[in-house]
Amino acid sequence: MHDVHREITRWLEPLGATVRVDAVGNVRAFYNANETPASTVLIGSHLDTVPNAGAFDGTLGVVLAIACLEALEGEKLPYAIEVVGFSEEEGVRFAVPFIGSRALVGGVDDHLLGAEDARGISVRKAIEDFGLDPCKVGQAAMYPETCAYLEFHIEQGPVLEKLGLPLAAVEAIAGQSRWELNFLGRANHAGTTPMDLRFDAVAAAAEWITLVEQFAKTTPGVVATVGSVETKPGATNIIAGEARLSLDVRHADDRDRKRAVESLIQQAKQVAERRGLEVRSTERLSQRAVAMDAFLTSQIEEAIRQTGCTPRRMISGAGHDAMILAEKIPAAMIFLRTPGGISHDPAESVVVGDVAKAIECGVHLLHQLASAPTFHSRTCRA
Ligand code: GLV
Ligand code: MN
Ligand code: MN
Repeated sequence: MHDVHREITRWLEPLGATVRVDAVGNVRAFYNANETPASTVLIGSHLDTVPNAGAFDGTLGVVLAIACLEALEGEKLPYAIEVVGFSEEEGVRFAVPFIGSRALVGGVDDHLLGAEDARGISVRKAIEDFGLDPCKVGQAAMYPETCAYLEFHIEQGPVLEKLGLPLAAVEAIAGQSRWELNFLGRANHAGTTPMDLRFDAVAAAAEWITLVEQFAKTTPGVVATVGSVETKPGATNIIAGEARLSLDVRHADDRDRKRAVESLIQQAKQVAERRGLEVRSTERLSQRAVAMDAFLTSQIEEAIRQTGCTPRRMISGAGHDAMILAEKIPAAMIFLRTPGGISHDPAESVVVGDVAKAIECGVHLLHQLASAPTFHSRTCRA
């Protein structure tokens, strides 16, 4: 990540931006296109990835923000632009996503700094190890005159490809819950323990995983995933005494999402009880669904139209930093078509022509905002 920050800085400084890395490891580039700007537009996405990732989830949004700045060729706008490359959006290491963007809205507290990764290293310690000072997270807050957040991102699904469209405006982002479940049985010898005298944590977990899939397949609007399974002690000739699972549940409606989680945890308890095991469940995240700003979304549609493309509105099933920024300022997103709908996988890709359209759309959007009479008076003091 240090190398990435250095490389991005090398691109941004010649464009006239002042670059820093804030206390949670977000790269921040301030482009003050006018000597006395009344407001700042924040544009960015995240730089972290998932294991076995593709090259575009997050990173493309940061690169596109820089490309838009470059395409302005030093033009002065009535607002400043801050490009941001967020850290820790995916939540892979600490099971808590959006750490970088939370810092901009004042959401990184002692509890979050104390969250630990699988090796027991806290967020606080990880920040120090990276060479930053966790006591300064308060200074990562967004500038008070920041009036909008814009994010380019790959769609990560098949909708735009099916429609034959390169770009879309995101109107809302689905809410998500993340839980950890531990099935606790009893480890024992795989050769000597009769089948009816076992308390097999893996067998219980497997039964529940199929129930999760069945539930989501038969409940409209829900997607539910067990993406990580860890068994202990984890050897061929030992009945597992413990199985630790992740659960990810999403829905555009928060009440339906919470109902789904309750039902799935209830089912885990029933499976455990029937088999004589115990199950513990811990909530790691409950992120509500978030609507994007109506004015910015309609401006994005207009900017897409200006590129000669047909605008389309859609809901994002994936989570994004825009959800967090939307707590404090108007936020909006532009999606790019994702070939094959493949994401969180090395096969993730984009169409080069779509990326060119996205830059064109971004420049139109920045110009539209520059001449929108209501935009500057909407300046939000976070
Ligand atoms: C982020 O990629 C998410 O899990 O939605
Ligand atoms: Mn992702
Ligand atoms: Mn992403």
